Amino acid sequence: MKIGIAADHGGYKLKEVIHPFLVKLGHEVVDFGAYKLDNQDDYPDFVIPLAEAVANGEVERGIAVCGSGVGASVAANKVHGVRAALINDHFSAHQGVEDDDLNILCLGGRVTGNMAAEEYVTAFLTAEFTAAERHLRRLGKVHELEKRD
Ligand code: RB5
Repeated sequence: MKIGIAADHGGYKLKEVIHPFLVKLGHEVVDFGAYKLDNQDDYPDFVIPLAEAVANGEVERGIAVCGSGVGASVAANKVHGVRAALINDHFSAHQGVEDDDLNILCLGGRVTGNMAAEEYVTAFLTAEFTAAERHLRRLGKVHELEKRD
């Protein structure tokens, strides 16, 4: 799978763990930065380009990391077509895809340890949207909101 990753300074170290992990799993990785640790950088500068790449199909799924994962999820969800969520447990990492068609996994670099992050990433990437009628109906109601802008 072609996976995009992005992080600010709060998520930089975890991104640098996730990147080789994805390569080891056989994925193609597009890194949207940051490319160095800069405590003054801002998560939207990296997360929005990632979110746009997910929305336009340049990458199939994304992983966004900031300090808590909150800012990354807030920013990513502003891009139409993105369904991003902060994930702190294994169940939500796969159920978010299966039921809600999650396409960006957000993690907190200051919250989630490396091994847990790798488990969440694996669960996220191996899950598939079920496209069950009830989930399509619910997502349809969410997507209606994007027509208001
Ligand atoms: C940066 O210090 C921090 O605020 C950011 O990484 C993130 O946690 C925001 O949600």
